[in-house]
Amino acid sequence: MLFSTTLLASIVSLALAAPSTPKVVTFPVTKHHRDSKFAQAHLHTRQTPVSIANQQDYYSIALGLGTPVQNFNVLLDTGSSDLWVYNVTDTNDCKKGGCAFTGQYNDALSSSYVFLNDDYSIHYVSGSAYGNWGTETLTVGDITLEGFQFACANNAGGQVGVMGISVENDESIQPYQNTYPNFPVALQNAGYIDRLVYSLYLDSQTATSGTFLLGGIDYAKFSGSLVYLPLADSGGMDLNYNSISYNGKDYAGSGTATLDSGTSYTYIPDQAFQALASALKLGALSTGGTGLNYIDCDSDVTIEFGFEGVTIVAQSSQLVIPESDGKCVFGIQSDSQSEGYDLFGDTFLRNAYVVYDLQDSVIGLAQAEYTTSSNIQPVTGPLGN
Ligand SMILES: *[C@@H]1O[C@H](CO)[C@@H](O)[C@H](O)[C@H]1NC(C)=O
Repeated sequence: MLFSTTLLASIVSLALAAPSTPKVVTFPVTKHHRDSKFAQAHLHTRQTPVSIANQQDYYSIALGLGTPVQNFNVLLDTGSSDLWVYNVTDTNDCKKGGCAFTGQYNDALSSSYVFLNDDYSIHYVSGSAYGNWGTETLTVGDITLEGFQFACANNAGGQVGVMGISVENDESIQPYQNTYPNFPVALQNAGYIDRLVYSLYLDSQTATSGTFLLGGIDYAKFSGSLVYLPLADSGGMDLNYNSISYNGKDYAGSGTATLDSGTSYTYIPDQAFQALASALKLGALSTGGTGLNYIDCDSDVTIEFGFEGVTIVAQSSQLVIPESDGKCVFGIQSDSQSEGYDLFGDTFLRNAYVVYDLQDSVIGLAQAEYTTSSNIQPVTGPLGN
């Protein structure tokens, strides 16, 4: 039954052997080039969901569910807030390869599964996903969380499963049920981290992995200092920007964009994109299925994203993306291809070191340094300028 009012708040997450020090947790995030048979983007759990065709790159983390552990790979997504994987009984979705990559959960093989309800339902442009809510023992790296709430999908359009790490307000059960502790919150509740803070470092376009650091900041991975900006609203990772500039000219003015690690590219207001496209002499839409326009592979294009007190600079090396046919595409596109939502996805995020502070609803931004050295410090108190 849809939209029941089950009191999910009564489900308590317990931790096994939470550490006393240091209170940081690091996971690798692995970059994947999506096979063309993955025809759809990830699910987006906003009220008017966004579905973007043919996303080529995504970042995943490995996790386990159940007793004994069953293994999964899911897209790490700052644009949504729930964990979902496929049900082992779902065969419709498997033709596109999403099941094989994600893994399929079998509740009959786990002694720790608890069924909650069959209300899991997300609606998005290209269809719906539905299934059951349950709780399970979740393992990620050395972390174990008992009674973790997740969704098991019986139908999800063949996409890759998702670990959503945005705010609780963005959980797909909203506004019909109470929110529940999603992954960052459950980690804090279990004492693995002191503050509800994580940092996401995707590294450069050519790197094969980045780092998802919970409860800490890696001070070696950015230049200058982090500038903290308030979230634009309480519904997700939305940030106000002041400008999007090329060659000293601002093409966009101010606006609001979602920092969305689950989206491969960057989507800006249509008017700004059209003007930028003619300034850059962008070519036609690529036939490679990215939904991006061709650009000369040797183009020298630097785009500056201006925020209050900090500018993130995206160089050609991050924006000019080689395709398999030897041609190149430009990693920024019009928001007419993202239902009018402005999304700063991976082609933006790879240029920035981003600290998501869900406790104080601020986001710290600095220019990324692509380096293997690290200087990780736990976050124990409020951040801020
Ligand atoms: C998987 O699907 C089967 C058949 O619809 C259902 O009985 C079972 O409860 C589902 N498992 C989960 C964990 O949702």
